Amino acid sequence: MNLQKLIDQIKPLAKRFPVLYPAWQATFINAYVCGEISPKRSYSLSGRQDVENFAAFIKPTIAHKFVIDIGGGPTAAAYLIRPNGATHIIDPLLGTGVAEDIRTDATQYDVCIFATSLDHLCHVHAGLLEASRVLKRSGKIIVWSNKEAPPRNPCVEVDGVWYYAPPGASDPFHYRQLGMYDVQKEMSNVGFYLTRHQCEEPDQCFQEYSRC
Ligand SMILES: C[S@@+](CC[C@H](N)C(=O)[O-])C[C@H]1O[C@@H](n2cnc3c(N)ncnc32)[C@H](O)[C@@H]1O
Repeated sequence: MNLQKLIDQIKPLAKRFPVLYPAWQATFINAYVCGEISPKRSYSLSGRQDVENFAAFIKPTIAHKFVIDIGGGPTAAAYLIRPNGATHIIDPLLGTGVAEDIRTDATQYDVCIFATSLDHLCHVHAGLLEASRVLKRSGKIIVWSNKEAPPRNPCVEVDGVWYYAPPGASDPFHYRQLGMYDVQKEMSNVGFYLTRHQCEEPDQCFQEYSRC
């Protein structure tokens, strides 16, 4: 997708979140460029141990279920490989819109996945309200996040390219970084509680949430 089409996908967020949007858009474009240059570092491609671990964590929950993968990346991620079931991916890179405004009917999915994507959203609470709206009453939300929110980082080098954080952002790729406890708090604000989790070294945490 070319940059102009990509910006058209995210533009509705500018009206809704005018204060956040300029800095968030810069982090989004940095992440897009990094994904083009260094796809293995940005997306869950096969062959990565952390991706295999996440696939094993979600396998019992997603088998034979209708899944929505929010911020699922430009192609189906390697953790989604499974015997059965169907998946709908929401990602501006795929041209399927944004988490904060999911264009689909309410209460139809069994499972919603945010795999290293929740802290990329422009507005986390709005994205989680949408996830809650499109999930069935018995639906589950699975989040892959950092265990702890990393410290602020104004510039990051990936494969020889330097990326810079816009003013106010946590780092070049995230407006706001989330650790496991930040995720738990955001989840409780939309009525979901932690039912299962698995933390991995050095700083990964897989979490499954159900409705209160
Ligand atoms: C680190 S990538 C993870 C992609 C995929 N889940 C994976 O593990 O390969 C973060 C993804 O979040 C997407 N994203 C960023 N902002 C978003 C938004 N507001 N709504 C939906 N997806 C978004 C990005 O386009 C990107 O594909």
